[in-house]
Amino acid sequence: MKDFLMKQAELFVRNELGEDSTGHDWYHVDRVRRNALYICKREMAGDPFVIEMAALLHDIPDEKLNKSTEQGKAKLDSFFKINEMADNEKDHIIQIIETISYKGGRKTDLQTVEAKIVQDADRLDAIGAIGIARAFAYGGKKGQLIYDPDIHVREEMSPEEYRTGKSTSIHHFYEKLLKLKELLNTDTAKLMAEKRQQMMLTFLDQFYQEWDGQDL
Ligand code: ADP
Ligand code: NI
Repeated sequence: MKDFLMKQAELFVRNELGEDSTGHDWYHVDRVRRNALYICKREMAGDPFVIEMAALLHDIPDEKLNKSTEQGKAKLDSFFKINEMADNEKDHIIQIIETISYKGGRKTDLQTVEAKIVQDADRLDAIGAIGIARAFAYGGKKGQLIYDPDIHVREEMSPEEYRTGKSTSIHHFYEKLLKLKELLNTDTAKLMAEKRQQMMLTFLDQFYQEWDGQDL
């Protein structure tokens, strides 16, 4: 039964996200699922069924992929209407998905080890070599520049600059990606983040050298 439900979730997500090119494609979901299960196994913590289901469905209600928060929630609910499972599992999976997003997911909001693991897996996919690729894929899709040395990072913007909201994909590293490592919950994810963080720092270093024509 659990294998069947998992397969159904996989088909549902493939169908919903397959064509997305903002970095939320099926392969993102698959990497989050695999990393989440890896963390679960290595930490010997959490219910693998709940973790895998939540990882598979985690981007379904994302506001970026839906017209509204309500529509996103309705899409997630529609999965559970067709695919019945124990109420406690269903409620837990929905709760994880609702609390793991960067905006909503402050550390104190995460009540369960399963939520912590899925959040870590999602964050790991935003950093490292994959994270770099996703940032520029997202930026390109949104028509944002790869870099503009005249734009400040958000923390240093004047209120006026902040309102006009201009940013670049390189700026996104300082606004979010480089900070994620410190926000991870599990020791396994923290360990995996080491190399990924180094990768981003090396990338940025080389990027500026090339930008300035000073790489020799
Ligand atoms: P999540 O998968 O955690 O829901 P987001 O929806 O915030 O992540 O973003 C999806 C991907 O797009 C991530 O890899 C993220 O780094 C990237 N991204 C989000 N906002 C920006 C931005 N302003 N510039 C560049 N990349 C971005
Ligand atoms: Ni995600």
